[in-house]
Amino acid sequence: MSNASHDRYRENVAGRANVADTPELVAYYGELEQFAAGALWTVANKIEPWQPKSASVPTIWRYRDLRPYVVRSAELVTPEQAGRRVIYLNNPGRRDVAAAVGWLYSGLQTMKPGELASAHAHSASALRFIMEGRGAFTIVDGHKMTLGRNDFVLTPNGTWHEHGVSAEGTPCIWQDGLDIPLVNAMEAGFYVVHPELNQAITHPVDDSTNTWGATALHPQENKWSKPYSPLFKYEWEPTYESLRRYSNATAGSEFDGVLMNYVNPLTGGPVMPTLGASMQMLRPGEKTKAHRHTGSFLYQVAKGSGYSIVNGKRLEWTERDIFCVPSWAFHEHANASQTDDACLFCFNDLPVIHALGLYREQALAENDGHQPVLA
Ligand SMILES: [Fe+2]
Ligand SMILES: [Fe+2]
Repeated sequence: MSNASHDRYRENVAGRANVADTPELVAYYGELEQFAAGALWTVANKIEPWQPKSASVPTIWRYRDLRPYVVRSAELVTPEQAGRRVIYLNNPGRRDVAAAVGWLYSGLQTMKPGELASAHAHSASALRFIMEGRGAFTIVDGHKMTLGRNDFVLTPNGTWHEHGVSAEGTPCIWQDGLDIPLVNAMEAGFYVVHPELNQAITHPVDDSTNTWGATALHPQENKWSKPYSPLFKYEWEPTYESLRRYSNATAGSEFDGVLMNYVNPLTGGPVMPTLGASMQMLRPGEKTKAHRHTGSFLYQVAKGSGYSIVNGKRLEWTERDIFCVPSWAFHEHANASQTDDACLFCFNDLPVIHALGLYREQALAENDGHQPVLA
């Protein structure tokens, strides 16, 4: 029989559970425990909060802090030993599931020229965003892609994939983003190592981008039936050019500035069923207003410097820094430069949130939409 208090979540509000412990009730709860059961009113207010209560802490991972450790990992372990040589982002509130925010995992991976990791496939969907170096490549289901700075790459659920850096390249670092914690929460994760450790390249190099990367043009031959984008690599130059051109045509969002989503060119929907991604431009001097919404978000600064305020915490960022916005946290962004734009890459679980009908959004009403800075 348990001696713990069972009424710690009581709320004196009509419609909410409000039952004080008595000796008789405590004995009753103890008897229920023997049968792997419990009285809902002892936990109802805990498991059904009035609004989302994220365990994730608004956190910034500064590149100048982490980069030396990422570089050093290349001297400490080989890709063969480590499988993937990654320093992962461990949110102080989500250490139990190794998440950077919410149900999203992220890490910084480095490879040296001439290195090639083994091929594998997993149920988690993955993406990468290239931070530095020349000569990196990824192979997805026989499609080899050459990668440059600020390129965005998909390795969807179930695809064979492997990464490497050509012998003529330089040491490369990129950000990985996966839905591993979500897949584990759903208890649906499988992982397979390629039987031959590496896969054959069965298509012309960069064929995915050459086939599907054209603006508003689709190839006549169109046999794609997978639930994820046939475009695996979204290059930086056309992305930035699209944002620049869009910025000439829009006043932008008061919450996001000039934001464009990376999409599956066939559907216009998210790039993968569980992960979405976007690139946004904050114009010179731009300061957005605060809002909050459901979903978990991890940003990487692709260009420029500035700050974001997340639930009252001011996060100063510059190029390559990564920061998170937990679900239902108020957030606003500012570009510190009066002359240059700033660009933020972001990946998120919005496709899941939308598919399950869980999206909610609210603007900050007070103080002209700006949060007081508390930390
Ligand atoms: Fe992987
Ligand atoms: Fe937002």
